Amino acid sequence: MMLLFLMAIVSSVVVERSVVRSYETRAISQRIAIVHNQCDILCDQLVNRGYLENPVDEVIDGEFDMLTSIYGGRIFVVNKDGKVIRDTFHLDVGKYSLTKEVMDCLEGRETSQYDRDNQYIEMTLRITDPALSDAESETLGVMLVSVSTVEINASKNVLERRGNMILMIVILLILLIGYISATFLVKPFQKITNSIEAITDGYQDESISVDDYLETELIADAFNRLLVRVKTVDDSREEFVSNVSHELKTPLTSMKVLADALNQDPNASLEQYKDFMQDISQEIDRENSIINDLLSLVRMDKKSADLNIEEKNINELLELIIKRLNPIAERANVELILDSFRPITAEVDETKLTLALTNIIENAVKYNKPEGGWVRISLNADRKYFYVTITDSGIGIPQESIDNIFERFYRVDKSHSREIGGTGLGLAITKSAIVMHRGAIRVSSRVGEGSTFSIRIPLVYVV
Ligand SMILES: Nc1ncnc2c1ncn2[C@@H]1O[C@H](COP(=O)(O)OP(=O)(O)O)[C@@H](O)[C@H]1O
Ligand SMILES: [Mg+2]
Repeated sequence: MMLLFLMAIVSSVVVERSVVRSYETRAISQRIAIVHNQCDILCDQLVNRGYLENPVDEVIDGEFDMLTSIYGGRIFVVNKDGKVIRDTFHLDVGKYSLTKEVMDCLEGRETSQYDRDNQYIEMTLRITDPALSDAESETLGVMLVSVSTVEINASKNVLERRGNMILMIVILLILLIGYISATFLVKPFQKITNSIEAITDGYQDESISVDDYLETELIADAFNRLLVRVKTVDDSREEFVSNVSHELKTPLTSMKVLADALNQDPNASLEQYKDFMQDISQEIDRENSIINDLLSLVRMDKKSADLNIEEKNINELLELIIKRLNPIAERANVELILDSFRPITAEVDETKLTLALTNIIENAVKYNKPEGGWVRISLNADRKYFYVTITDSGIGIPQESIDNIFERFYRVDKSHSREIGGTGLGLAITKSAIVMHRGAIRVSSRVGEGSTFSIRIPLVYVV
């Protein structure tokens, strides 16, 4: 902006200078042309009236007087020997004037030059026979003319002074406009900056409003939307921290109660000790699994740049997961069935995808019928995606809970889930892992009949 104004000022100065300069050159060359013309006529008269031979002629003298008084100059007439035969100042008659200009002119080269410092024009004209053309005639003499340019300079100075005055006005105007527009443009932004700064300390429940200008209104809106998002993230983080603390405290409280009971009973039997110690050990296991799940979840929360993508055979990956879960399934009397429709390879992070699928299949085993339950895992693909579907014959999920099961620490039935075991973090981890693979997960379920989890993941990982 400042640069723009500076450019405007500089260019006005340049324009003003060049106008004055071009006026000067024009006026000088015009003056030269006029004087040259008049002197040419006079030269012809000199020859016609035989002035070169006998320089006494009232008519010619009159012409000389008129010319010199109009242009404020001096005229010499030099014959071809270089002798001055006429000087309108009557000072140099009879002397020889063989300056370079005169010599040049005698040889046929007329000159004219402008002496800016001393403010005069000097020119030489050939005196030739008017009956002949310039080229045919020999040089009979030289007329040396000098005319003053004082009044040209005077009007140039007047022009310059006016130009400078206009220039000053223009510069002042430019500065004024610059100042006004700068304040107008900067002011709204200053105002919104102030509002934003005022809110930075305690953004919790505030929003800004600067609707004096359209620009600031738009910025304020965008900023407020950002505030809402920040607040949502902040709230959910707070909730998460309080949930984590609560979940971690529960096993500790149980252990404390068990330990205190033993300590306060001096007659506690060995049986009781063994019993309580077993419970304490279980609580430690629980604490451990919560911490492990939390660590997995934190790892999933990292950026997708942390994914370790490799081309993997998905059939083998699923077979391995099922093999690892088989002991748990046998203990729960649940049958695991795998339907692979075709060999599939895809670009996945093996560890994270294994964790995701293990969680779902483990749930399907855990929340199954007490006897004779089954879990069916099917794998299929088209040209873009592969699909894993896990269907169980289990207890099902109530309709109103389906939207919540992916939330951290959410469990449909706290007391029920507690005896089955689990942290409520499994599906949250699963969902993060699948989303990181640019995939999707869907659930459908009917209470008492079973649930189906459908997963879709691209075969090629796109960053
Ligand atoms: N296949 C399933 N059948 C019935 N309920 C399920 C199934 N999978 C998940 N759930 C419900 O969703 C809740 C959340 O699952 P998850 O996040 O894995 O936590 P948990 O550690 O309790 O298994 C479970 O507590 C359970 O109530
Ligand atoms: Mg689970």
